[in-house]
Amino acid sequence: MGQNSVIVLLGASGNLAAKKLYPALFNLHRRGLLSDKLKIIGFDPTHMRHDDFVKHMKSCVDQSSPELEDHFKAFSERCSYITINQDAGDDSFVELRERMESFIERDEAQNRHFYMALPPSIYVAVSEQLRRNCYSEKGDSQIIIEKPFGHDLESSVELHKKLEPNWKESEIFRIDHYLGKEMVKNILTLRFGNPMFGALWDCNHIDNIQISMTEDIGTEGRGGYFDDVGIIRDVMQNHLTQLMALTTMERPGSFAAEDLRQEKARVLRLVPPLETKHTLAGQFVKSGDGKHPGYKDDDDVPEDSRCATFCTSVAYVKNARWEGVPFILKSGKALSESKTEIRIQLKDTTDAMLKDTNHNQLIIRIQPHEAVRLKMNAKQPGLGLRTVETELDLTYKQTVEDPDIPEAYEALLLDAFKGDYSESVSEQELEASWKIFTPLLHELEGNKDIQPAPYVYGSEGPDGLEDFVASYQFQK
Ligand code: BG6
Repeated sequence: MGQNSVIVLLGASGNLAAKKLYPALFNLHRRGLLSDKLKIIGFDPTHMRHDDFVKHMKSCVDQSSPELEDHFKAFSERCSYITINQDAGDDSFVELRERMESFIERDEAQNRHFYMALPPSIYVAVSEQLRRNCYSEKGDSQIIIEKPFGHDLESSVELHKKLEPNWKESEIFRIDHYLGKEMVKNILTLRFGNPMFGALWDCNHIDNIQISMTEDIGTEGRGGYFDDVGIIRDVMQNHLTQLMALTTMERPGSFAAEDLRQEKARVLRLVPPLETKHTLAGQFVKSGDGKHPGYKDDDDVPEDSRCATFCTSVAYVKNARWEGVPFILKSGKALSESKTEIRIQLKDTTDAMLKDTNHNQLIIRIQPHEAVRLKMNAKQPGLGLRTVETELDLTYKQTVEDPDIPEAYEALLLDAFKGDYSESVSEQELEASWKIFTPLLHELEGNKDIQPAPYVYGSEGPDGLEDFVASYQFQK
């Protein structure tokens, strides 16, 4: 049965709803994880009748899911749609309130979740209208927002100040969809559930850590948007920073939201701002065969754009555990492959007794093909004392029988419904993270002498990348 609740999708005709939210909600429904009493309302200026809305949602979900027709029929009974009249002030919001109230008896409580799949420029105005007209008197209310949360430290603080009078921190669920990914959730279990890793987790044993997220697609079609953002804001200040926080934080008192987020914020505050001298920024040019356009070939991108589509920058954590360990953060568009991983390289302690040894490495592959791999040295079988690298490969698909890996948005929506904020980003984390990146962003953007290094679409990155990472002891 469950509790009376409603999720309102603001931006119901948009991309995020189509690509992520409808599939996730439908899957949760199919798995029996939604309360019977949860209603879904699409709320958007696009004119749609109920039937059009249902048809649109159906076209967005996995068409091969088992018993699609039966499940979808029951799912669609939860759903309804309201067309926003943008010229009518609060009227549509009043209609929304009345619709939500129609699902319950007069004195019943109802939890309300407002998913703002909207341009951030209207977050504040819409959140005010929601507070004024749609706040639940009996029950919890929550706004769910997506990055970007500001453009730099100052604007992020400003955004928070504007939301704060209407929505308390405990009512703002900030999405970083990487926190919903299965392998990202596994980082804490790996670290704190295995004493053998716990014992090695410091600067005495670890030489360097590379956290990388590469994509093999460029910015085709969204160059105009991207030019304002750049790779640092797009993925480093959020996704990569969260991966770094989970990798470096101390063990929290518990995995409850308050303890976990406090510990992450604490370690991020120990990371000094990134510096240009430890940074290599790049921008892609067209592929060798001319099939893929360069970044500036996009009509919406200015010809003199210095926007970074690739960046690698080295962070340090100023505490005893991580003294001197470089954290090489790397991300880029239009590279040779799409892959996100954390690669932990251990110190070499063989003292040259053995020849041909490599760093031990623990690799946490976030995607694709979720895996944990441990690279070790072993004796080459046979006479003589030669060393070979061997690998313990725990690829989920091979080691876990029939792994049921939910989509990130399924996990995050379920948390939002439960009021569990452990996988949402707190204001403290956000502020600490902007402090790390803002000076670098301002310098890269403000100093016209700094040009991003060109790299070919589909390559490994700009020339000089290998030497750059090697200078932080990273071994390929
Ligand atoms: C988003 C970025 O946050 O993450 C996109 O804005 C990027 O530019 C995307 O492509 C990558 O997400 P995923 O889940 O496909 O790795």
